[in-house]
Amino acid sequence: MTSLTLRRPDDWHLHLRDGAMLRAVLPETARHFARAIIMPNLVPPVVTAAQAAEYRDRIMAAKPDNSKFQPLMTLYLTEDTDVRDLRAAAEIGLITAVKLYPAGATTNSASGVKDMTKVKRVLDNMAQIGLPLCVHGEVTDPDVDIFDREAVFIDTVLDPIRRDIPGLRVVMEHITTRQGADYARDGGPDLAATITTHHLVINRNHILAGGIKPHYYCLPVAKREEHRLALRKAATSGDPTYFLGTDSAPHTDANKLLPCGCAGCFTATNTLSILAEVFEQENALNQLEKFASLNGPTFYKLPVNEDTITLTKGDPVAYPDQIATEDGPVTVFDPQMLLHWQVSSSS
Ligand code: DOR
Ligand code: ZN
Repeated sequence: MTSLTLRRPDDWHLHLRDGAMLRAVLPETARHFARAIIMPNLVPPVVTAAQAAEYRDRIMAAKPDNSKFQPLMTLYLTEDTDVRDLRAAAEIGLITAVKLYPAGATTNSASGVKDMTKVKRVLDNMAQIGLPLCVHGEVTDPDVDIFDREAVFIDTVLDPIRRDIPGLRVVMEHITTRQGADYARDGGPDLAATITTHHLVINRNHILAGGIKPHYYCLPVAKREEHRLALRKAATSGDPTYFLGTDSAPHTDANKLLPCGCAGCFTATNTLSILAEVFEQENALNQLEKFASLNGPTFYKLPVNEDTITLTKGDPVAYPDQIATEDGPVTVFDPQMLLHWQVSSSS
């Protein structure tokens, strides 16, 4: 196969940031994707409907001319989230989901949730109106090994919440383990999982063996090879449980290359080329449309996109090592393999 036409994909987990960074990274996603779920972990976080509306306006203003890209906004769940504000935002279609960051789990998560009992009322309301909860699924207990934090979260936080609040619709975001893939698959129609592009490509050796590679450091951190293989199997299975959420998370090189560098891989620029390569390696190019374009809208109860993109296979694809921003360069994720597929047209 040398050409593949898909319904236009969506990105169900994306960091666009704000200001100069937003202006620099938005075109990279808007070029190929129709919609994206926009993460609310700005400084300060997007916690109210008014803040979500203002952030959406800034994204729309930063969009390239003629782009039809549509940001799907989220609210950042805190122990003080106002149920009425949240319900009103959902009713008018301003927000598509709510994001749970356990406090301290990742970048700008300090305002996240420390005590899940304090958000029970909000979650009950979300279950009533069918508003999905996007979950950063890692415990923050310093005594739990960082490579075990996802599996422990499933057992000690996620499963109890789902038993306590039947009908709560949950997206396990950026799963990194076989346990995460299995739990999502077995969780019924109200549970789904996103998988990033980079977790299909790297395992923890890529970060740590032969010298430390800050550009491969993200959260949840990449795990052992057996988990990467489980994620590849899940993503390419066609199972409606799984869909693409790139978690493309730009940080300037100055902020990555520090004694205590930021977590995040910036994959917006070459994500579709990488995915096509991975799916071809798995003999599953025919499942790419489900993963990137069909399963996400089905879970979110949104229409699939009517227009298409075409990927063409040819000589190795050239893409920039970095993209320039007014704050300094952002390094594009290096998949350490030649990429042969590129988006050649869209309609
Ligand atoms: O690697 C990550 N980067 N993981 C997250 O959960 C947050 C993100 C960011 O905002 O940079
Ligand atoms: Zn993220």
